[in-house]
Amino acid sequence: MKNTANKPLSAWRPITTDTFVYGVPHYPEHVDESYWDRDAARMAECGFNTVRLGEFAWHLFEPIEGRYDFGLFDRAIEGLAAHGIQTILCTPTATPPRWLTAKYPEILRVDGQGRRMHHGSRQHADTAHPLFRAYSCQITEAMATHYRDNPHVIGWQTDNELNTSMSVSYSAASEAEFQIFCEHKYGTIEALNAAWGGNFWATAYRSFDQVVLPRPNAPVHCSPGHVQDYHRFLAFATMRFQRDQVEILRRMNPDWFVFHNMGRLADVDFRGGFADDLDFVGYDVYPLLHEEKWRTGGHAHQQASFLDKCRGFAGNFIVPEQQSGFGSQVVFSTLVPEPGEMRRMAFSSLAHGADGLMFFRWRPAHFGAEIYWMGILDHDDIPRRRFDEAKQIGQEIQALAPALLGTAVRIDVGIAGADFDNEIAHETYPIGFPSPQDDGTLLHRACFMRGIATGFAHPEDTLERLKIFYVPHWLMFDDDWVARLARFAENGGTVIIGARTGSRDRHNHVIRTSAPGPALSALTGVTVEEFGRLAAPDQGEMMDRDRPGAGHYVETARDTESGRRRYHFTFAGRELTAGHGYEILEPAVDAEVIGTWSNRFLAGRAAITRRRVGSGQVIYLGTYLTDDLAEALVDWLAAEADIAPLVEGLPTGIDATLREAEGRRLLFLLNTEHTPTRITNPPTGTDLLTGATVEDTLALNGYGCAVIRLRD
Ligand code: GAL
Repeated sequence: MKNTANKPLSAWRPITTDTFVYGVPHYPEHVDESYWDRDAARMAECGFNTVRLGEFAWHLFEPIEGRYDFGLFDRAIEGLAAHGIQTILCTPTATPPRWLTAKYPEILRVDGQGRRMHHGSRQHADTAHPLFRAYSCQITEAMATHYRDNPHVIGWQTDNELNTSMSVSYSAASEAEFQIFCEHKYGTIEALNAAWGGNFWATAYRSFDQVVLPRPNAPVHCSPGHVQDYHRFLAFATMRFQRDQVEILRRMNPDWFVFHNMGRLADVDFRGGFADDLDFVGYDVYPLLHEEKWRTGGHAHQQASFLDKCRGFAGNFIVPEQQSGFGSQVVFSTLVPEPGEMRRMAFSSLAHGADGLMFFRWRPAHFGAEIYWMGILDHDDIPRRRFDEAKQIGQEIQALAPALLGTAVRIDVGIAGADFDNEIAHETYPIGFPSPQDDGTLLHRACFMRGIATGFAHPEDTLERLKIFYVPHWLMFDDDWVARLARFAENGGTVIIGARTGSRDRHNHVIRTSAPGPALSALTGVTVEEFGRLAAPDQGEMMDRDRPGAGHYVETARDTESGRRRYHFTFAGRELTAGHGYEILEPAVDAEVIGTWSNRFLAGRAAITRRRVGSGQVIYLGTYLTDDLAEALVDWLAAEADIAPLVEGLPTGIDATLREAEGRRLLFLLNTEHTPTRITNPPTGTDLLTGATVEDTLALNGYGCAVIRLRD
């Protein structure tokens, strides 16, 4: 399987491949070789065609500096290939070996308190450090040279979940690299001082070698411009670290595909070069990790929204790791996928854009820091229900793959996503507002619950494929994006702009004109007269207690009054309560007021407006989404913007998506609940999982799945 050049990045970009990668990350080094042949035979029985190997095995590949030993992995790769299983290798740079950290302790990351990280877990080395980069290149070169002609090695994963454990480092080397980055970006120190606001709190510099990292113990907060550039630097350094490896791999064997498996998505800017260097991206799927924390409709919605956000970066992806059983680390554990749920979660990944899938992991480890992450097998090496499910999925994927590959996921309601700078701009000075992605997730959830095709896309993507485009408060909004939105509306699209959009420039300065700035004001027909903060819908105070440094102010900010002061507005015949914040809008003559503040000093002022543009419309929301507002908005849009669910009258708990390409439409209907359900009047077609014709009604067992190829 070789991915060919398939640019530009787009939420609708499928992987150009003729094979659906199906398998597991595997650690042959965790058992003795007497297991190996039985393992490979059982994997083949499951229908696995690929394993991923080696991401934590640098100490085996290079036990002593400069002395390489590939014997163990050569034998493992050969043995797996004898059963028809190909290998994806990983650069093992998430775990530098002890000889390296002992010789050069200065490559270890340093946290915000100045504490150097230690050897003994993983991701302890600083990817911005020139010395660590040099060693990363050496091990990549050695592995790539050794495996360049091995026909069973089909592709590479770079590192493992870059930045997931820790993305920052405040070491002296990082500071020096940051200074170089800043000099390259600004050219003169005066330009940097102007960008960061050096006349505020005497933070100006006289030369680049004086520039410091924005440390959390400064002792209070640094300038938003300074912090923004630090995160841009981290993303740049991460991209550069990966690029070093990718260049070596491509030079060595241009037929290999190269991807990275993303985890926490910290300080990675996919559209800033990171994803362009790859053939496709990989996303690790651990929905049960988030259920309690996210409180956004359980793990089925969590998985869908995570994958839809990821698809917004670079289109379809592979899932190099998907939770199969109970999971834990020393400090947490997850719920267990129930019988049938591992399969449902696998089909949800496919439904939301996966063109390859691997279950984490083949068997659980008996030793090490993750002894209770279960695999397809159990600790006692007995294949049980997860093995049976993997086998069933294997057969189903084989039948499904030809129809699936080459399709893209339909989006009717698009949410602006995939913009690193805007997420960071929010983070640099959040004052308790939700992040753009968290705000957008509320609209995503309201659509998901109704079976409306939704997803995330960047303003530079192909907006014509959407009916609606919602921009959650993106503080930085370029004029050429506004022009794209204007064209989209002219041609019949509905644009929705959230509060505070466009209110800062690219240096993170607050703009000097009325928000949302001249271009957006012209498009929306509003200017913002005043804005303010309100408590979040479920909170009685406005303090952001989880934020570093918050402790400093907690006592003075405890203010139950702020929680009681609620502002209401009417919209679409409903009286709603604003959460997070309000804006007073000043509408131009051609803007229609469709939502009005209804109490206290705001009473009678405009809260939501609409301006007709061409055959479309532009809505401005002078507040943040709440669950109630998201619901009201989706109901209103159904009437005013011609959106409908993929299937009318869906029972609750159905994950409904459509993957489509010229002449092919695959409707995924997945029951995310453990109880059986029935869908009446589904569109007619053939269920590719059973071969049955679907007409009047579709019965789904608990966690039951159907993939219906629709009749045209
Ligand atoms: C992933 C990581 C794996 C493993 C897994 C389970 O994020 O890539 O190496 O740690 O989580 O914790």
